[in-house]
Amino acid sequence: MHWTALDIRADRQRREPLYRQIVAHLREEIRGGRLPPGTRLPPTRILARQLGVTRLTVVNAYAELEADGLVTSHVGRGTFVAGTDGETPVARTWPPSATPGRPATELLDEFFRMARGPGVIAIHSPTALRELVPVKELQRAMAAVLRREGAEAVGYDAPGGYAPLREWLGEHLSEIGIRAAADSIVITAGTQQAIDLVTKLLVQPGDVVFTDSPTYVVVIDLLEARGARIIGVPMDAEGARLDIMETLIVRYRPRLFFTMPTFHNPTGITMSLERRRRLVTLARRHQLPVLEDDVHRDLWFTPPPPPLRALDRHGVVLYASGLTKSLLLGGLRLGFLVVPPEVKRQFVTAKQAADLHTNSLIQRVMDTLLRQGRLERPMVRLRQALQARRDRMVDALEREMPEGIRWTVPEGGYHLWLSLPPGISGVALYRAAIQHGVAVAPGMPFFPDREDRGHARLTFAVESPAAIDQGVRRLATAARQLLRARRPDDSRDLRRPVI
Ligand SMILES: Cc1ncc(COP(=O)(O)O)c(C=O)c1O
Repeated sequence: MHWTALDIRADRQRREPLYRQIVAHLREEIRGGRLPPGTRLPPTRILARQLGVTRLTVVNAYAELEADGLVTSHVGRGTFVAGTDGETPVARTWPPSATPGRPATELLDEFFRMARGPGVIAIHSPTALRELVPVKELQRAMAAVLRREGAEAVGYDAPGGYAPLREWLGEHLSEIGIRAAADSIVITAGTQQAIDLVTKLLVQPGDVVFTDSPTYVVVIDLLEARGARIIGVPMDAEGARLDIMETLIVRYRPRLFFTMPTFHNPTGITMSLERRRRLVTLARRHQLPVLEDDVHRDLWFTPPPPPLRALDRHGVVLYASGLTKSLLLGGLRLGFLVVPPEVKRQFVTAKQAADLHTNSLIQRVMDTLLRQGRLERPMVRLRQALQARRDRMVDALEREMPEGIRWTVPEGGYHLWLSLPPGISGVALYRAAIQHGVAVAPGMPFFPDREDRGHARLTFAVESPAAIDQGVRRLATAARQLLRARRPDDSRDLRRPVI
């Protein structure tokens, strides 16, 4: 199939990196209609030769255009100018979004689509370790609840949640230092809904919200949909950088800080105890509500420090967590929120407005399982399996990865975070990795500003441990190829890695 030649030049005298010059030119041509939908762009090798730049420079440029939704690429067929969908009346009346970028989850899904190709080893997103999912326990508990409660178990319920489950939670949370009476707990449809309710009640359009940078990708979309302006707080090996955060607080007066101090998604980092204490003090001093997402806590290999909520004596921390995700039962959608008792009523009203209440049967089933201690053994087995896979992935990375690439070694959770040397973009690594038959998650969609800072997220929650070795070997081959293709001037193309 033929491609369209481009009238374009790269100017080495300009300070603007070469790949950005290519992006700017093509963006203008596409937006101006001079390159209509369906136009095939020149193959990277050919455009690189025409411009006298490295192929990596063109790969980076195409990757950025793809991330912006302006082009789509198909392995083996080439890169094409994306089509525009016909506008429906609903689309025309849609309120303008606070951020013009594409939804972060949409970007990620697009990347993940290529991971489904034949023979591609997937180490981009956790997969269920099927034999460890407590299906039998669930089956028995469900039958027992239906036998015991019959119609009661499937009727409408209290909006704040099933009282015995809230009581069990109140007792259990004291083991991690959280003092929460049953009436300060709201049961939600997953941790996700707990986060959603907090932003609904606290965040107005135009408000500034801080998140870790990078952060949990769905929260970026959630906050943008509320019209919030997100400012990312950079992280280091101990969590969010509080020195930078304090300056940002003074400048932006944020309404909320969303953070995941324990087994962070996507980096796997756990905030140190010392930093947790300083964060709570900082938040209290500036009266900044903090929303703590603790959904991965139970998946520890080394017990983590207490949650921020346990260190907070002044009611600045709202605590969200899940009851199902960490047991590979995420589809059951069960989570909870711990809030100060004086605002409980507003949260219950918001919960009722959202979906009346969380599934009555599932709340009772989980309550039964938790009270009978039937989930303890499955949890131990899952932790052991994840830890063994974490070790296997770290060993493989040490064995295979070329010089200059670094990674985190998480003490729990599902993910680790790869940092590439300057000049190599996470999206370029992702694309090269797909060519070599392995899928990772490029780091870019996890940053609120969608900047590619040269990272990738890898998951060790992979069913077959042998796939970890092979996946990392393929990834290392892709990384070596990119390193070889890198020229000194490419190192200006990217900012230095944050972590
Ligand atoms: C960091 C983080 N928070 C929250 C969630 C949502 O959890 P739940 O299934 O309990 O809604 C996820 C799911 O992937 C997550 O990674």
